[in-house]
Amino acid sequence: MRILGLETSCDDTGVALYDSEKGLLAHALHSQIDTHADYGGVVPELASRDHIRKISPLVQTVMQQAGLSPRDLQGIAYTAGPGLPGALMVGAAFAKSLAMAWQLPSIGVHHMEGHLLAVMLEAEAPSFPFLALLVSGGHTQLVEVTALGCYKILGESIDDAVGEAFDKTAKLLGLGYPGGAALSRLAEEGDMKRFHFPRPMTDRPGLNFSFSGLKTCAVNTFAKHGIEARADIARAFQEAVIETLLIKSRRALDVTGLKTMVVAGGVGANKALRAALEKMLLERNGRVYFPRPEFCTDNGAMIAYVGCQRFLRGQSEDLAIKIYPRWVLDELR
Ligand code: KG4
Ligand code: ZN
Repeated sequence: MRILGLETSCDDTGVALYDSEKGLLAHALHSQIDTHADYGGVVPELASRDHIRKISPLVQTVMQQAGLSPRDLQGIAYTAGPGLPGALMVGAAFAKSLAMAWQLPSIGVHHMEGHLLAVMLEAEAPSFPFLALLVSGGHTQLVEVTALGCYKILGESIDDAVGEAFDKTAKLLGLGYPGGAALSRLAEEGDMKRFHFPRPMTDRPGLNFSFSGLKTCAVNTFAKHGIEARADIARAFQEAVIETLLIKSRRALDVTGLKTMVVAGGVGANKALRAALEKMLLERNGRVYFPRPEFCTDNGAMIAYVGCQRFLRGQSEDLAIKIYPRWVLDELR
């Protein structure tokens, strides 16, 4: 079965072709970072307009890369939520139009389910069940994954998502937007002993997170020490985030008895986080799996993959254009 996947939930237009036998056939991505950088955040209307411009040429690109024609496809998957309503509408309307023109079934995919299962695109993929640490620009969640569609949220952020905290701190330090990756590069030059930031909510039981205080801590330290302390602040911030994620992940592994972990979402590309988790799982005789960095951030491949799994199960939808901007993960079946 060959499936076309379309991702347009935020500021990346991602398109991919996935084959249930051969794996990923082709994928292409257009990032809108340059469009939004001057505004310091994603401008929804500009995002929608850019998806409209890019989606059709990207579909042509992947079809050519894979040497396929519409007749070679068995279905179309698109991100139906959560995300920006206008941006989701572009993907949904385009997917349903193609489905009608090419006479193919279509299905809406949950964006976070895409992130959770992106690791399945790798040669080294885990088997169910596993604990997933989902760390993106909009979400921070610990999820018990027992099968396709069986997701139990064990804990999540009560305020800022990790990626959001990275981006806000990066902006404060003059690293542009979105500055998560730049902040982590700067942190490598920083002195980890100079400042100590708190590990929020680790002194009480439970698996929820809070990251807005760390950002405030960075603001106060920056106000006191100024630009000269930039790298040390970046380091203290990153150390605090990673240790907090580590403490809660360890707790979640204890509670569930799971031995396998998966990291997903944009912050999953963070090298220091990957190294810390690898060390922790090794000590526990477990194993952690990561998607390649380009599939940690938003992409069409994860949507094509999940769509394919759902089509294989016999699921599909009619041609009505439906989006779910606030869809929650544990509503899935
Ligand atoms: O999953 P994603 O592409 O988008 C959402 O669905 O939110 O995640 C983007 C987030 C941004 O906040 C970005 O700054 C962060 O992931 N990010 C990183 C790194 N690479 C991307 N944060 C820390 N370290 C990185 N290396
Ligand atoms: Zn995402």
